Amino acid sequence: MTGSWRVLLALSLFAASTCYWPLKPPLQAQPQVQAETEPTTPWGANYFPNTPLVTQDGQKVRFFDDLIKDKVVAINFIFTGCSDSCPVETARLRQVQKILGDRVGKDIFFYSISIDPYNDTPATLKRYAEKFGIGPGWTLLTGEPDDIEQLRRRLGLYIEGLENGRSKDHNLSLIIGNQSTGRWMKASPFESPYILADRLGNSLHNWKQATASANDYASAPQIRPPSSGEQIFRTRCSSCHTVGNNEPGQPGIGPDLLGVTAQRDPHWLARWLKEPDQMLAEKDPLATLLYEQYNRLAMPNMRLGDAEVTALISYLEEETARLRAPLADRGNP
Ligand code: HEC
Repeated sequence: MTGSWRVLLALSLFAASTCYWPLKPPLQAQPQVQAETEPTTPWGANYFPNTPLVTQDGQKVRFFDDLIKDKVVAINFIFTGCSDSCPVETARLRQVQKILGDRVGKDIFFYSISIDPYNDTPATLKRYAEKFGIGPGWTLLTGEPDDIEQLRRRLGLYIEGLENGRSKDHNLSLIIGNQSTGRWMKASPFESPYILADRLGNSLHNWKQATASANDYASAPQIRPPSSGEQIFRTRCSSCHTVGNNEPGQPGIGPDLLGVTAQRDPHWLARWLKEPDQMLAEKDPLATLLYEQYNRLAMPNMRLGDAEVTALISYLEEETARLRAPLADRGNP
């Protein structure tokens, strides 16, 4: 019986692709099956393993009992040596954490579990957390490789090939859910942080809590018809970069990009957007300097095509011009 739920979970997660995909409650599909121990949800202690894990502070915890039982959680799998998808996801979650404020650690919990436990010791994870400015309520964990693989399979987040340092699909390693209601959904790190925060803060709590922050909408970006460059920027870059940061107390993970198109050589910039990892590996002097300045956190290679790079550069130029124009001329183009 639990077997068929597993298949259902696996199938619905497999089909989820990059979209939100609430798991179909299997109790509706099979009303005759009633879990004895977990009356409200079949995704209980009999489904999730109680995997032993160790936090970045060296504390021993158990996956079900200590991390997810009766909690609203966001879980992803990372490895600190990952140069593309993980930093993007981590940066996005950091934005979500900021939007949710002190609810993270109280009624919403974030977990990043390493899939490279040989290299990711608690000390390595702690350094990673510091690099990204990961705050309280967000725990990084490591454990035994076999246990972690089993956990990934249970959560439907096992991706073949991720071990080689590159995932085939960047969007598949974040899941958010409420253990007690059994609502779980995959989330894309390219999703707006406001939407992710809303799911974690409101819909997964069945709207029982006050909204995460009263000015969510006010602080959302101004609505103008976005150019394709702006769209790429919002989904791929805004988790780490601002253009004309208007919150000086909150620097991004990477540099503010106001004026960068005038400041840098166009060839350098275009190549940087395409293969920052390669330029860093070649010890390009400017790339090395920026890397040292920014906490040795490497900008990920986002596999952008030429058209995307061109669109991004035009956006950065236009946005700089827009922000530098007198206020009265800014308007909504
Ligand atoms: C995970 C965080 C992250 C993401 C996502 C990211 N960057 Fe970066 N970016 C950085 C960091 C950190 C640096 C500083 C150099 C370094 O450490 O590698 C940087 C540097 C840069 C620079 C050089 C700035 C300068 O002063 O010359 C540009 C331009 C840039 N990024 C553009 C982008 C664009 C465009 C995107 C989206 C397609 C993007 N970045 C996505 C983290 C990120």
